[in-house]
Amino acid sequence: MPPKPRPLVNVTKDPDHQVYCGDCLHILERLPEKSVDLVFADPPYHLQLKKDLYRPNQTKVAGVTDHWDKFASLTEYDNFTEKWLRACRRVMTDQATLWVIGSYHNIFRVGKIMMDLGFWILNDVQWYKSNPMPNFRGVRFTNATETLIWAKKSEQQKKYTFNHYVMKTLNDGKQMTSVWKIPLCSGHERIKNTDGKKAHSTQKPEELLKRIILASSHQGDTVLDPFTGTGTTSAVAKKLGRKSIGIEKEPTYIKIIRKRLAAIKPEEYIDLRLVEPIKKTALRVSMQQLIKANIVKENQVFYTKDEKYHATLQTDGSIKNGIGTGSIHKIGAMIKKSESCNGWKFWYYKNSGILSPIDEYRKSYFNRNLNHITLSQS
Ligand SMILES: C[S@@+](CC[C@H](N)C(=O)[O-])C[C@H]1O[C@@H](n2cnc3c(N)ncnc32)[C@H](O)[C@@H]1O
Repeated sequence: MPPKPRPLVNVTKDPDHQVYCGDCLHILERLPEKSVDLVFADPPYHLQLKKDLYRPNQTKVAGVTDHWDKFASLTEYDNFTEKWLRACRRVMTDQATLWVIGSYHNIFRVGKIMMDLGFWILNDVQWYKSNPMPNFRGVRFTNATETLIWAKKSEQQKKYTFNHYVMKTLNDGKQMTSVWKIPLCSGHERIKNTDGKKAHSTQKPEELLKRIILASSHQGDTVLDPFTGTGTTSAVAKKLGRKSIGIEKEPTYIKIIRKRLAAIKPEEYIDLRLVEPIKKTALRVSMQQLIKANIVKENQVFYTKDEKYHATLQTDGSIKNGIGTGSIHKIGAMIKKSESCNGWKFWYYKNSGILSPIDEYRKSYFNRNLNHITLSQS
């Protein structure tokens, strides 16, 4: 009889944020089938850097030269890619999706293998780095993007999680595009060794993971990262009230992940009441809420675009004019002589003689409540 495999050791001992040290191919096969709701994978890119790169002042650029990024050949890289993708697919629930990040060195190969395996691509998102590494040799364009492929398990998969309204709310009420402008991970967020050097060559910014996790998982869901590095995915999942499973084969990074997860303070948790229940209905705000939030004031005057009509705001959030008293929608509809009217778009306020739609008040209400979540498009 073959020996019984040793039980997996969760190095954090926290069942909600499990971290396993080892090869993801071996660990993934030990996880239960259909047990994760979202996968984020930041695999080795197989960069194949041939020569050291120097700045004009002759200092050496810290490129990705790690042994874990090296493969003997492209065929070996492809075989590895196929194996980990298959293994992830097995553990994904029937509503789960998978995100993979890569650069021009590997992402086309990864995309082809995903399609061959039957994954169904939903989007390719460009991470546009607002502070890319300069191109010192100047022999080609500065490389300022990385690509994220977002896919469901198959074309036939009926449901998958996409929190459309969360993304819209975080993007000033506009539909979010597939170009995400986010700076590289730097400053206090960049984990350093005792010698002050970067602890990991490819640590990803938390901002990127926040967007992915908020877009494609719900509170309490389990997020898997098979190449967890410094534990960015696990850390962001924890702050966002998700569960996580991280796999990393290098023990040096495991130490960093444990420390990083343990150091997260409750005040770093994001208040999910502000983003989680956001569905179309939850985007509604009443005029009374705006008065309470001091965004609009009693007796303030609203105008129609042509300024032919105006109305005064009452304490209870209704508006009053010669036509009657009622909601912004009701009085708007009476003026338009139509069944209905979107009062937010119909009425305007005046500031220094300039008219702007009162819908801006509603937006500033949401922005004020969400501005501690640093998810910006620019
Ligand atoms: C691109 S880095 C991920 C960085 C990570 N996203 C972060 O923000 O820190 C890839 C990581 O995968 C790990 N790795 C490579 N091959 C692996 C394998 N077969 N199983 C588990 N981890 C692996 C490497 O040690 C490296 O830390």
